[in-house]
Amino acid sequence: MSSVSVSATSSVCLIIGDPVSHSLSPTMHNAAYTSADIPFVMAAAHVQAERLADAIRGMTALNIKGLAVTMPHKVSIVKLLDEVDPIAQKIGAVNTVVNNNGRLIGYNTDWLGILRPLERETSLAGKSVAILGAGGAAQAAIYACMSADASVTIFNRSVEKAKALTAEFGPTVLPLQDAHDLSSYDIIINTTSVGMAETIGESPISGSSLREHHIVFETIYAPATTKLLSLSQEVGAKTIPGSAMFLEQGAAQFELHTGVKAPKAEMERILRASLVRNL
Ligand code: ATR
Repeated sequence: MSSVSVSATSSVCLIIGDPVSHSLSPTMHNAAYTSADIPFVMAAAHVQAERLADAIRGMTALNIKGLAVTMPHKVSIVKLLDEVDPIAQKIGAVNTVVNNNGRLIGYNTDWLGILRPLERETSLAGKSVAILGAGGAAQAAIYACMSADASVTIFNRSVEKAKALTAEFGPTVLPLQDAHDLSSYDIIINTTSVGMAETIGESPISGSSLREHHIVFETIYAPATTKLLSLSQEVGAKTIPGSAMFLEQGAAQFELHTGVKAPKAEMERILRASLVRNL
């Protein structure tokens, strides 16, 4: 593997978020730039919500080539860009910005982070999908499933909030506490935050809801094995960890930023090593 050093001619990309210091995006993207032998570099910028518009104006002034966008900016950034790709518009969130000669274009690659790992396991057409949660990650999951002709039911703690958030797609919405008999579903996708941070060790649904025929997709990537994933493994269900989503959304983002095919094997290797170190 050749090595790329940062120089005065490097193209600069940033990941912006609040908080952002935990992000694995710079580690993954810089490893990918080196592997692909291209003069790019990614750093993290801590941008607070009230400074987002300033940061976006600064992006063109500083000739920043691309952004990776994380919480809490994915929705609020949409109205600050020159152009938003129709899929990102439909999902209502942007996680990738490309500076095209001073014109800022927003994209969403989170839905590919859901679609690609699932399609490696099964064909989605005609499948029944239970999505737990209704926030930003859920919107991307709904788009991914509906675009592949799967039927979607949302289970959320607050039903009214979920109905309002997902109105664009019109899925069935049920209370999360009704997610005890999921045997008629083929796929379960957790997009709630239950299982990370202060709810580490908790699962959004109980083990008795899970069946061997399920494919269970977790969108949380730290911890690498959430309680939901370990419960699913206990019943013999197929599982997809959050790192699979992180990798695929990042690979698609790399390609938008650089125009070069993503070195996925190297990105996966560095991601696995980083997740082990962070345990
Ligand atoms: P993201 O954009 O990353 O998906 P979010 O918009 O904050 O994050 O959404 C978090 C999701 O986790 C929501 O569906 C939230 O449910 P509510 O809409 O009822 O708030 C869900 N969630 C968070 N904590 C939860 C908990 N303790 N139990 C059940 N659901 C929870």
